Amino acid sequence: MFKINENYQKLPGSYLFSTIAKKVAAYTQANPDKDMIRLGIGDVTQPLAPAVIAAMHKAVDEMADAATFRGYAPDLGYEFLRSAIAENDYKSRGCEIAPDEIFVSDGAKSDSANIQEIFAQDSRIAVCDPVYPVYVDSNVMSGRTGSYDANTETWSDVIYMPCTMENGFVPEFPKETPDIIYLCLPNNPTGTTVTKAQLQDWVDYANRVGAVIIYDGAYEAYISEADVAHSIYECEGARTCAIELKSFSKNAGFTGVRLGYAVVPKDLKCGDVSLHGMWARRHGTKFNGAPYIVQRAGEATYSPEGKAQLKAQVAYYMKNASAIKSGLQAAGYTVFGGVNAPYIWLKTPDKMTSWEFFDYLLEQANVVGTPGSGFGPSGEGYFRLTAFGSYENTQKALERIQKL
Ligand code: MLT
Repeated sequence: MFKINENYQKLPGSYLFSTIAKKVAAYTQANPDKDMIRLGIGDVTQPLAPAVIAAMHKAVDEMADAATFRGYAPDLGYEFLRSAIAENDYKSRGCEIAPDEIFVSDGAKSDSANIQEIFAQDSRIAVCDPVYPVYVDSNVMSGRTGSYDANTETWSDVIYMPCTMENGFVPEFPKETPDIIYLCLPNNPTGTTVTKAQLQDWVDYANRVGAVIIYDGAYEAYISEADVAHSIYECEGARTCAIELKSFSKNAGFTGVRLGYAVVPKDLKCGDVSLHGMWARRHGTKFNGAPYIVQRAGEATYSPEGKAQLKAQVAYYMKNASAIKSGLQAAGYTVFGGVNAPYIWLKTPDKMTSWEFFDYLLEQANVVGTPGSGFGPSGEGYFRLTAFGSYENTQKALERIQKL
């Protein structure tokens, strides 16, 4: 008789955004006349940039001709894309990352879920609290997290680093020594970030204690302040302790197109064993590459027109972020984030729990957001709104919230 992976049985409830989608679907079914505004999941709303569309069309035509048709992509991704990434995302920022240290993937969600499998089963993971749920859930699935305590909403073998208003949402070094540290900066869900000097402290700490940092830089394009690092490799020593994950979802609107990459520097080693070699082995065995058409689309984001068009798109969303932030502040809310990230993190009013505020907003304003407690216990009493809506809907949502 077959047996299941019992670790899946330990997972409480469904994936956060699936739970929210179900709740919203039930509400809209019962109230079909309501005009819902969705500022919950961080999904983009603006169309792909013209430079990206042109590159995709061209690639589609190439696939229609036997002379230019492409089958399986190279294991690490096409050279043209890896070189563009190395040049634009690293070399131009003074970071030493070679094209063959870049692994093209279908996005940062899958990379951040999969990366744990190259580490030992008894590795201790440290996560910020609140945190993007994928980091913890993927470790639960692989049996690395002990048991779940429903009262504290925490796992026994996970080190939590609370990020709250009190510490300015900056994680502190944990008392117990972790093996793997997940950092998402600028942060999802709080929309806050750390300075380059604070990030350097984390790199120094990881090198000192022999930990690896899994650095999720999905929101890098939204950085507006000068003293914030665009890559962890801007920090000295990061090549020996950090894996960086990047996504084209938020900077280029590829949430439905799917493209990302992982950087595993060749200097990152456990004894004599190179993690780069391990990830290459894993990638080669379990992944068959992002589609050629999509990789050409990714390349186009680095062309002069592509860069200009994406800059305008990011500015569009950040105009929403700033409108939400100031609009909520004017209505008396305590608000964080929204300066270096497309997320606004607010304190719920009148001591409402995160889910109470979710229901209140859903029913009274027909606005969907994300309850902070869904990201971890320290998110209780907070709520996340995304700036990825259209400007018109964002304005409408604000007007409704201000009238409550
Ligand atoms: C979010 O809303 O937190 C993100 O859209 C999730 C993701 O990027 O997978």
